[in-house]
Amino acid sequence: MTVQGLPMAVPAQGLPTRVRIHEVGARDGLQNEKSTVPTEIKAEFIRRLADSGLTTIEATSFVHPKWVPQLADAEELFPAVSELPVALPVLVPNERGLDRALSLGATRVAVFASATESFAKANLNRTVDEALAMFEPVVARAKAEQVHVRGYLSMCFGDPWEGPVPVQQVVHVAKALLDMGCDELSLGDTIGVATPGHVLELLGVLKEQHVPTSALGVHFHDTYGQALANTLAALQHGVTTVDASAGGLGGCPYAKSATGNLATEDLVWMLQGLGIDTGVDLGRLVATSVWMAAHLGRPSPSRAVRALGTTPQPHKEQ
Ligand code: HMG
Ligand code: MG
Repeated sequence: MTVQGLPMAVPAQGLPTRVRIHEVGARDGLQNEKSTVPTEIKAEFIRRLADSGLTTIEATSFVHPKWVPQLADAEELFPAVSELPVALPVLVPNERGLDRALSLGATRVAVFASATESFAKANLNRTVDEALAMFEPVVARAKAEQVHVRGYLSMCFGDPWEGPVPVQQVVHVAKALLDMGCDELSLGDTIGVATPGHVLELLGVLKEQHVPTSALGVHFHDTYGQALANTLAALQHGVTTVDASAGGLGGCPYAKSATGNLATEDLVWMLQGLGIDTGVDLGRLVATSVWMAAHLGRPSPSRAVRALGTTPQPHKEQ
């Protein structure tokens, strides 16, 4: 029977039984807002995301404040949420960023590489190799401090300046990130141009070249409405870490055509329908995105938030 506000669970063969959602709304989402959200609202957003059952919530970035002014309050925000009983990864592009994060007690960091030269230049002011050289001491120091390191890899499918990105080019940078010691890798479709066959092709080649699927996450933006289809393809391949952004917030300030990430609510709806456990209370999450949309002054682009957000949602039994 369908519970109001939840899809009927009908499992499909060959899919994982549990998926870990890596929530990026507070970072990937808010970094792209025209206006800067006040620190206290960001902290409340993260608290509500944790309260809805998300266990990995990317909090902010320790990048140059001139490059991403929306996240310039990282020093104030991080201590306001650091006691929450969830994993709170933060982005660090270089040793300066790592120093800032470590001084506040961060235990999870992420470096962010690009598969293309154009985006490496636009996002990091470096070539691909220079960026990898910048990350090396960051990863080495983080590992020495028992800090978990995620490696993002952007433009895995297409690039706004260079067009389609050859799979081998992606594999080369992916291996470099894992070889330098990243614990996990998030494959980014930064501008949302991937389609399921392309996702399976990349995952297949990575597997052939001995990159363990268990170390991979997927990070889809929803520009062309393909993010859920791409996610399903990745799940069929065995991926169990999926990045998503509450309410579909997001984009990237240094990739003009990037729109919002896959909305966490749309993802949870699909996973719940497939009988895949996420630990997330969809009603609470929708309420959080409706609350955030009111602060941002515009409706959420998430289809599930639009469908569910107008009526009170039942909360899951604790
Ligand atoms: P740069 O201008 O080349 O910096 O930028 P630099 O190394 O030449 O240093 C210049 C000055 O900046 C120095 O200060 C440094 O101390 C300072 P000065 O000596 O002149 O007074 N500086 C810093 N200050 C604070 N925090 C720091 C820091 N680093 C240097 N961490 C840099 C290079 C990497 C810093 C810059 O390009 C940058 O901050 N880029 C970040 C861009 C960004 O955050 N983009 C969005 C995240 S990526 C994304 O969204 C994609 C993703 O979602 C996946 C996907 O969708 O594909 C992850
Ligand atoms: Mg992104």
